[in-house]
Amino acid sequence: MNDMALNSGWLLRVRGLTKIYGQPDGDSIARTGPQASTNICPVTGAIVACAGIDFDLYPGEVLGVVGESGSGKSTLVQLLYFDQPPTAGSAFFTALDNGTTDLFTLSNQRRRHVRNHLLGMVYQNPRDGLNFNFTAGGNIAEKLIMAGSMNVASIRERSSNLLRQTEVPVARMDQTPRTFSGGMQQRVQISKAIANHPPLLFLDEVTSGLDVSVQAKVLDMIRQIQSELGISMIVVSHDLGVIRMLTDRTLVLKNGRIVESGLTDQILQDPQHAYTQLLVSSLL
Ligand SMILES: Nc1ncnc2c1ncn2[C@@H]1O[C@H](COP(=O)(O)OP(=O)(O)OP(=O)(O)O)[C@@H](O)[C@H]1O
Ligand SMILES: [Mg+2]
Repeated sequence: MNDMALNSGWLLRVRGLTKIYGQPDGDSIARTGPQASTNICPVTGAIVACAGIDFDLYPGEVLGVVGESGSGKSTLVQLLYFDQPPTAGSAFFTALDNGTTDLFTLSNQRRRHVRNHLLGMVYQNPRDGLNFNFTAGGNIAEKLIMAGSMNVASIRERSSNLLRQTEVPVARMDQTPRTFSGGMQQRVQISKAIANHPPLLFLDEVTSGLDVSVQAKVLDMIRQIQSELGISMIVVSHDLGVIRMLTDRTLVLKNGRIVESGLTDQILQDPQHAYTQLLVSSLL
């Protein structure tokens, strides 16, 4: 047993997480970042999407990830959801082997298990998270089946309960999400993402592209789900308003690096880094 894992109370511990696209050389990381004001290595052209990302997430906590377009926010959650392999780094999750196993060393089979049973993801683009050739109910059923549910009647009942919980009209359960509004598609994605009762949920720009009134409803619903189920969440957004409403603690990313982190309220009241000051002033 790893004492560190058991004693310090974290749910997810990420260390040195790095993703580089292209062909870097040994200095590509040093040539990029907030100091250099770019994530593109000027010598090799490699893109350092994120580098040296360290953070801990605690049970029931909602962690925000904010930063300008291209700062590496989506890459960060996609690495943790196994959408793509990292270039370097490790991640430990107490829901798996008491936090003693690096997620990035898992076999494909165990990785599938973690994804199906322990994680949920809501993508910015509903087409990445939903199969538009299936019905809304079918999308949720797919997740339930992958998480081990077998009984058709119970799957159908659970799917309709999830849709009810996320305020999708149950009468539309047998229609494809293609015919749904953007807000409804996001709510189906949220139903699907929480279907397997994951202890950890990733939400990537969940409300961008929705109009303001729908945005407020979806944010309210996420808060409600969080307080009812106590799920830990990583909420990615370029919108500090969303971060303020949903998160306890925040990481500010710029050019693939964390430039500031702390309690969300403190960051909003008294941003330390010039880049965060700029973000906060743009909110006023
Ligand atoms: N498949 C890929 N191949 C090459 N570069 C990529 C790939 N995916 C992402 N990138 C680059 O990695 C960097 C980080 O991208 P990422 O999508 O994580 O940013 P983001 O912070 O989510 O931006 P946005 O707010 O626009 O969604 C960007 O420079 C992007 O161009
Ligand atoms: Mg993104």
